[in-house]
Order: sequence, then structure tokens, then C-alpha cells
Amino acid sequence: MNWQDVKIDYHVTELSAYLARQGVIRENDWNSRAWRTGLRHVRRHKFVPDQAYANAIQPGEASRPIDLKANPADWWRAVYTDCAIITQREDGLSPVSDPIGDPTCSLSAPSIAMTFLGELDVQDHHRVLDIGTGTGWTAAMLAWRLRNEQVVTVEVDETLANVAAANLTQAHFSPELLVGDGAAGAPGFGPFDRIHVTCGVRDIPYAWIEQTRPGGIIVMPYMPAPTALQGGQRLLLTVLEDGTARGRFTGRASYMMMRSQQRPPTPTQVLEEGRHSTTDFHPRNLHDLTGPRYEGALLMLASAMPTVMMETQQVRRDDDTWGYAVRLYDLEGPSWALCESTPTQTEADVVQFGDRNLWEELETVYFSWVRHGQPGRDRFGMMVTPDSQYVWLDTPTAALLRI
Ligand SMILES: C[S@@+](CC[C@H](N)C(=O)[O-])C[C@H]1O[C@@H](n2cnc3c(N)ncnc32)[C@H](O)[C@@H]1O
Repeated sequence: MNWQDVKIDYHVTELSAYLARQGVIRENDWNSRAWRTGLRHVRRHKFVPDQAYANAIQPGEASRPIDLKANPADWWRAVYTDCAIITQREDGLSPVSDPIGDPTCSLSAPSIAMTFLGELDVQDHHRVLDIGTGTGWTAAMLAWRLRNEQVVTVEVDETLANVAAANLTQAHFSPELLVGDGAAGAPGFGPFDRIHVTCGVRDIPYAWIEQTRPGGIIVMPYMPAPTALQGGQRLLLTVLEDGTARGRFTGRASYMMMRSQQRPPTPTQVLEEGRHSTTDFHPRNLHDLTGPRYEGALLMLASAMPTVMMETQQVRRDDDTWGYAVRLYDLEGPSWALCESTPTQTEADVVQFGDRNLWEELETVYFSWVRHGQPGRDRFGMMVTPDSQYVWLDTPTAALLRI
């Protein structure tokens, strides 16, 4: 072993110890220990370009541009601490070092990647489809855990796929790498026992269920309202004999959206064109929700108003005080709503546009969530059938309420 390998081993040991302290790697779990070994064998740095941007999750680490030539120590540190490494922004149109541009490719942070891989519960004989190859890191982890022939990985961006192919070859892995829209799965390569999705999904493609064996598992970031603030939920679906898939939300997951499901830009809301009213349901109610309660409320919203996006914002007023705003807009129609707190804080102003009264709809959903006892994410689940998908509460028999 050369000096470089000794140094990397040391970094990996430190990272593994951190992940164990976070509960991501569990000593008493065989599957978890296997991925810890994978972290040692699949050198993460082989999948990181010389210039990238480290999005730090680990406390004490700052988010920053990293450059192997300009500051090698910092680059190595970012690669072997709990940082997502952004490798592309705006489909390659913005410099990766500029945090303003939306990320379109990254290596997931080790804590997140290891959690997803752990939930996949891979067994030696499984065939796995990995959607969103990126620079190839998780495909390599799966190819290490299984054999190359048991892993298919799909990347929509040809430039990234070429980078991944070179990285995988250099790291001595050769899973089947396809260039295409992962929404179609990998026709002709299934059936799979597991599907590992590493881009955000709002509408779950039924092709994934069709290409998974009954009893198989699909793990994905479910992101019904993908704004930076709201993030998404890790969803673990099990495919059943009857062609449906059911599952639960197992934690937070914020990913870049699948290309075909990217969020359209927030529409311009011309206040003069809207209907004005006031409400005593204050937008602060939504801002004040945190943790699992907040996620429960968002899942309720995703269930009842599946085509509606919500953004919550703190707004600076002319008098330098801060207020609260909630913006809603329908992805499938012209309707939008804006509710902003007033300086007196007693009532809030509402402006709405289009054939739907989105603000009243939101109030109905919110109070329905309150009536159900403010359920957190653990009481919600997802059902996917050949022609529908819906979020359920407590029992997977029916959609909650649809507006
Ligand atoms: C978070 S990154 C990849 C993470 C990667 N698996 C890793 O090593 O951690 C998400 C990737 O999904 C890809 N992607 C987005 N939409 C896709 C689609 N429709 N089909 C296949 N890949 C897609 C993006 O181009 C990007 O490379």
C-alpha cells in the first residue's frame, strides 16, 4: 500500500466513524457493515472532478468551491467528509463554483447515499437498476456489492454519462450504463429486484413497477413540491403481485429533480389581476411547522392538492420589519394564490387568481390535517396503481381527500 492509499484509508475510517455516530452505519446490521466496507473499496475521489462544489452536511464543514490543483488538502477533505459534491449546475450552463445556479448533478452526501443503499436491502443474487448515474459513484457501489452484470444504471445527460463511463472504467467497474430517460426504466434489461432512484420524483413512472419483480423494492426521493425549503421524503415502495406498489416515507430526502419533472419557474403573479380578500388563518401557521409535523402537513397537501406547489417565504417589508408569505400555484392550470402577513399581524392579505380558490383549498387541507391529529410522516404512505398514485393516511385503501 502506498502513502496515498494509507492517507485515504485514514480518511475513510474517520468518515465511517462519523457515519456510525450518526446511526447511518450500524455495527449490528450485516447489510450496513457491508456498505461500510464498500465505502473503503470504492474510492469516492475517483468519481469527483478536479473542480466542484462541496455542499456540507457535516457540522463544522463549510459549503465551498473545491479545486484539486489550487487547494488539494481542502479537496480531499471535502471528498472524505459528509459533503454532497455538486459536479454540474443548470445542465452545465452555469459554473459549478457559483452557488447561485441550480445543481443538476452531484455525488450524494455519504450519509444520504448510505441510507438509500441500506434501505434498498440488496441481496447477493439481486439485479438492480440505478436511476441517475451522475459521475458513477453509486453505480460503482452497487457493482462492488453485486457483480457488474447485475447492475444497470441510466443517466439522461450524455456528457455526464461519458464522464461516468470513464470514471467507472478507471475504478475497474463495468455495470451496464445506458443513456436515456430513467422514467422509462431500462426496457429489455429487467426484471429487477431493486430500483435505486437518485433524482427527485413527483409522478412515479409506472414502468418502474412493471420492471420490478413482485416483492421487489424501489427507493426514491419523493418530492411533490420541490422547493429548497420543502425538500422531499425518502419513499420505500414494495411491488406486489397485483401490479400495485405500496410504501412508507422513511425520512427526509432532498434531491435534484428528474429532468422531465423539473419544477417550472414560479409564474409571475400580477397582484392587480387577482381577487383580494383577508384571512385570519395566518401564513405563520405554515412557517411555524417544523420537523415531522411539517412533513406530515406537506404530505397531506401532496395528497389533497397534488398539482399545487407551495412556497413559504419570509419577506422584508418597506419599514424593515419581517413578515410571512405563502405562495401557491397550480402546475396544471393558471390558478395561483399569495397570502402575506400584515404589519398588525391579526389578519393576512390574500390575493388569488384563476378558477381555483387555492388559498381556501389550502385552509381546508390544513384543518383536515389538524382534525386528523396533526399526523407526522410516519402515518402517511403511498399507493401506485397502473393508472394512479396517491398518498394515504393510516390505511392504503383510498386517497385521503382530493380537492
Ligand atoms: C444526485 S445526481 C446522481 C447521484 C449519483 N447516483 C451518485 O453518485 O450519488 C442525479 C442524477 O440524475 C440524473 N437524472 C436526472 N433526470 C434523469 C432522468 N430522467 N433519467 C436518468 N437520469 C436522470 C441527473 O442528470 C444527475 O446526474
